[in-house]
Amino acid sequence: MARRIGILTSGGDAPGMNAVVRAVTRAGLQKGMEVYGIRRGYVGLLTGDVFEMDERTVSGVIQRGGTFLYTARCPEFRDMEGVKKGYEMCKKLGLEGIVVVGGDGSFRGAGDLSSLGINCIGVPGTIDNDIQCTEYTIGYDTAMNTAMEMIDKICDTTQSHDRCSVIEVMGRKAGYIAVNVGIAVGAEAVITLEEPYDLNEIAKKMMQAKKGGKTHFLIVVAEGVGQTDVIAREIQEMTGMESRVTVLGHVQRGGSPTVRDRVLATEMGYHAVELLEQGIGNRIVGLKDGKVYDIDLQEGLAMKKPFINRRFEIMNMTAF
Ligand code: ADP
Ligand code: F6P
Repeated sequence: MARRIGILTSGGDAPGMNAVVRAVTRAGLQKGMEVYGIRRGYVGLLTGDVFEMDERTVSGVIQRGGTFLYTARCPEFRDMEGVKKGYEMCKKLGLEGIVVVGGDGSFRGAGDLSSLGINCIGVPGTIDNDIQCTEYTIGYDTAMNTAMEMIDKICDTTQSHDRCSVIEVMGRKAGYIAVNVGIAVGAEAVITLEEPYDLNEIAKKMMQAKKGGKTHFLIVVAEGVGQTDVIAREIQEMTGMESRVTVLGHVQRGGSPTVRDRVLATEMGYHAVELLEQGIGNRIVGLKDGKVYDIDLQEGLAMKKPFINRRFEIMNMTAF
C-alpha cells in the first residue's frame, strides 16, 4: 500500500475536480495514508509546492466549482528531463502514489512518471468528454447544463427579434457538448467536426420552416469547427434572417457541479485510492457501461472514442 500519496489537478479546470480531491483525501486518510495536495498540477510537483491535508482541508469544497488546488499547464513536464525532476521530488517528499485529475495530456505525464516507479492514477476531469477510454469525464454534465441555461436565455431574445442565433460551445476538437446541448435547447442545427455539414441544406430547411410559420432559429456550433462568425454571416446571407453570434466561452467551465459530477467524482476518486492501496499504478479510472472501472494507462490513451452519431441523427430528425 502507498503510505503517502499526492493529488494534483492539471490542464483545464472542470467542475467536480474539488469533489475528487475531497474523496481521495478522506478515503486515503480512512485507509491510513497521508495525503498531500500538490498545487498547480505538475508545476507544483516540480517546485515541491505541496501541503499535507486532513479531513477538514476538504470541508465545504464538494459544491465549489474550479479547483482549490489550482491548475496549470507545465511544458517542462512534457520532456523526460522534467518527469525525472518530478520523480526526484516524489522521492524527496516520500510520495509513493499520485492521483492526477485532468485530461489526456495530464495522463501522458502520469504514464511517464509511472514508468519511473511512482504509482500514478489518472482520473478524467475535463468538460469536453474527449477522453478515449471513458464514457464520461468529470465536469461534462455541469458544463452542458450551464450551456443549456445560457442558450435558453439567448433563445428568449432570439425569439423576440425574429432572429437566428449561432452559438459556439466549448469542447476543444470534440462535439459531445454541442450535440447534447443542441438537443436540450431544441436547436435547428448542430455543427461539429465529427459530422459533415452543408450550410445550404441548413438554410433551405430554415426557409421552408419560415414559410410554415417558424420565426426564430438556434444553431449550435462546436468550437473545434472554428468558423462560427463565418457560419453566422453565411446563414444571414442565404436566409435573409438577421443573425447573431454568441461565444459562450469560459462560463461553461465554472459553477457548482451537478449531482452527476459530484457523485461520479466521488466514486472515481474512491476507486483511485483503492488502486493505490493495492500498490497499483499506471491506470486510468473511467466509466464503462455505466460502471466505474480502470484500464492500463497506455492502452486507455490508445483507444478510439466513438462519436455519438445516433444521437446526432436523432437531433437532426427532431430539429424541425
Ligand atoms: P489536458 O490534461 O487537459 O489534456 P494539457 O494537454 O494541457 O491538458 O496537459 C496538461 C499538462 O500535462 C501539460 O501542461 C504537461 O505538463 C502534461 N503533458 C501534456 N502532454 C504531455 C505529454 N505528451 N507527455 C508528458 N506530459 C504531458
Ligand atoms: O479542455 C477544456 C477547454 O475548456 C476546451 O473546451 C477549450 O478548448 C479549452 O479548454 C480552453 O482552454 P483555455 O482555458 O486555455 O482557454
